[in-house]
Amino acid sequence: MPLFSISIILGILPLGSSQFPRACANSDNLLRKECCPTWPGDGSPCGELSGRGSCREIRLSDAPLGPQFPFSGVDDRENWPAVFYNKTCECSGSFMGYNCGDCKFNFAGPNCTERKLQVRKDIFKLNTREHYQFLAYLNLAKHTTSRDFVIATGTYAQMNNGTTPMFQDTSVYDLFVWMHYYVSRDTLLGGTNVWRDIDFAHEAPGFLPWHRLFLLLWEHEIRKLTGNEDFTIPYWDWRDAEGCDICTDEYMGDRHPSKPNLLSPASFFSSWQVCTGR
Ligand SMILES: *[C@@H]1O[C@H](CO)[C@@H](O)[C@H](O)[C@H]1NC(C)=O
Ligand SMILES: *[C@@H]1O[C@H](CO)[C@@H](O)[C@H](O)[C@H]1NC(C)=O
Ligand SMILES: *[C@@H]1O[C@H](CO)[C@@H](O)[C@H](O)[C@H]1NC(C)=O
Repeated sequence: MPLFSISIILGILPLGSSQFPRACANSDNLLRKECCPTWPGDGSPCGELSGRGSCREIRLSDAPLGPQFPFSGVDDRENWPAVFYNKTCECSGSFMGYNCGDCKFNFAGPNCTERKLQVRKDIFKLNTREHYQFLAYLNLAKHTTSRDFVIATGTYAQMNNGTTPMFQDTSVYDLFVWMHYYVSRDTLLGGTNVWRDIDFAHEAPGFLPWHRLFLLLWEHEIRKLTGNEDFTIPYWDWRDAEGCDICTDEYMGDRHPSKPNLLSPASFFSSWQVCTGR
């Protein structure tokens, strides 16, 4: 079934994480519980030699958990990413990223010191070039393997605490689909027992900030993929919409004339497949 992409774009991150940096998805890093990849600019972990950051023990919040989650020590997502890694890069200044190789949002330049204002546009006000460029970028992201990140296909326990890593490649687009799934999925309690009343990205005050960061990271990965530093995600202003006015083949895809669960065959996205992981 084709994926309806705007629902992902609007609807959809573990805070601070982009699933697993490829550089750390191996048993050596898992057993040492350390994820401090080198920054290629100077060959040092976290770009430390250039003052970009350093490899530090993670600091966890001591705020109490909400009542929705009555467990401790059962879910890999608790105190993320402490189950997998307890040392990661802590970036300084306006550097960010798993190896402090990137600039924080709205910063640019070789040392990330230039402010850069990015403005998102109404999808209906894009010019023809911007419109087709957006659709082409989505398609490129859907069909390009992420260079920097992989996704976990098993739990930490299934990975025998790191001795048998379980990761796989994913496309830049599906990485974000997966993150959204991963943060919202049920807690696996062993066997067929699951705790369904949990969702770490929705149903609580984290909803808006989580999704804002999610979209910022998504924009960031699209910029890296396309080299277009000025790319922003268009928004859909639905305040006066009487229906889904972006659900047309010109935009995110109309409904299939006879199979309402599918996208119209004339849609740009009708050939997209649902991402499969587990
Ligand atoms: C971090 O993980 C390593 C490897 O398991 C362990 O030796 C170390 O004690 C851990 N540090 C903390 C603060 O948990
Ligand atoms: C960036 O920072 C490095 C190290 O501090 C410095 O040598 C270099 O001149 C800076 N480059 C620019 C363009 O500011
Ligand atoms: C994994 O670590 C947990 C907690 O430290 C321990 O109880 C368990 O025996 C370990 N499992 C394996 C397969 O090493």
